[in-house]
Amino acid sequence: MLNSHLSLSLSLSLSSSSATALLPRAFSPAASALRAVAAASSSRWISLRPSPPRSTFLRVRGMAELVQDKESTESSGAAAAAAASGSGDEEARQHSRIFVDARSEEELLSLITKEKDEGRLPPNVAEGMEELFHNYKNAVFQSGIPHADEIVLSNMSVALDRIFLDVEDPFIFPPYHKAAREPFDYYMFGQNYIRPLVDFRNSYVGNIPVFDEIREKLQEGHNVVLISNHQTEADPAVIALLLEGTHSHIAENVTYVAGDRVVTDPLCKPFSMGRNLVCVYSKKHMFDVPELVEMKRRSNTRSLKEMALLLRGGSQLLWIAPSGGRDRPDPLTGEWYPGKGSLLDMYS
Ligand SMILES: *[C@@H]1O[C@H](CO)[C@@H](O)[C@H](O)[C@H]1NC(C)=O
Ligand SMILES: *[C@@H]1O[C@H](CO)[C@@H](O)[C@H](O)[C@H]1NC(C)=O
Repeated sequence: MLNSHLSLSLSLSLSSSSATALLPRAFSPAASALRAVAAASSSRWISLRPSPPRSTFLRVRGMAELVQDKESTESSGAAAAAAASGSGDEEARQHSRIFVDARSEEELLSLITKEKDEGRLPPNVAEGMEELFHNYKNAVFQSGIPHADEIVLSNMSVALDRIFLDVEDPFIFPPYHKAAREPFDYYMFGQNYIRPLVDFRNSYVGNIPVFDEIREKLQEGHNVVLISNHQTEADPAVIALLLEGTHSHIAENVTYVAGDRVVTDPLCKPFSMGRNLVCVYSKKHMFDVPELVEMKRRSNTRSLKEMALLLRGGSQLLWIAPSGGRDRPDPLTGEWYPGKGSLLDMYS
């Protein structure tokens, strides 16, 4: 029973890569870790098709760069000590709560500058926060929803607050991370943050019966593995938002296989914390830093073990984007198609 994996291919035609004003990076490819699971793939297509969010998209150049810079500027042992002590214990985390108290956009931006000037925020992170603010603001305003200014201020102050908290006291993701719902509900935070960016009137989820079938299979104890050609930071939220009305428990129960970037970049981490994740280091970047190769290998082995344990327990819904290929619009029609070198090529 438990080893009959129902594999589905999922066609997501989001406005792809940077589906929101959020973070353009894909959950990195995890192909090697996943081959075993994906082998049984019987391609079936679900169309889950939000129309492109009405927004211009953030192009935070080189998130990886950002993280590296941050790491080097962070040589003050404080962060390392915090990391060592604070991993995973949300309750124990100290928090200065300055951003959530901001009453205006100007105040929010001046707080970023202040924290940077006083050395509590690495300059590149501060810059990323400002950029995030402006991109999010533009996207929400373009959506035409009422009270855009309040929505931007309240969601951004929470987002910046969580990002700052992570700089002060970095969260360390274990190989298997359960969505953090208490005391702060990171899941709902991500949902609310992304919600204004989805054009619900022009979005639809196709093949609803397939989701009914998924629900049944999960109830019977089967595991379900969803294989997607590409994944961005925003996808979990967008998928969950679109399924919220009809299949909310499915939305909340997905476990995403995540690459290292989404669990190391301070701008991404608060969004990742609200999701169930199996964290893997991508093969592509395995050798980027020679001293880290062993650690990454060991960590991937642990992640694989965790994944095997999960699957053995049954009733798991896993989302995997094995190749990380980017979707691109067709130059003639402007329609989005799965990227080359993506899953289609790997498993067809
Ligand atoms: C964030 O945006 C949502 C709309 O998605 C809104 O309902 C909410 O009040 C905003 N603020 C917070 C803190 O969630
Ligand atoms: C699915 O989510 C619901 C709540 O959203 C929870 O009660 C249930 O235990 C979850 N099931 C699994 C298999 O994680």
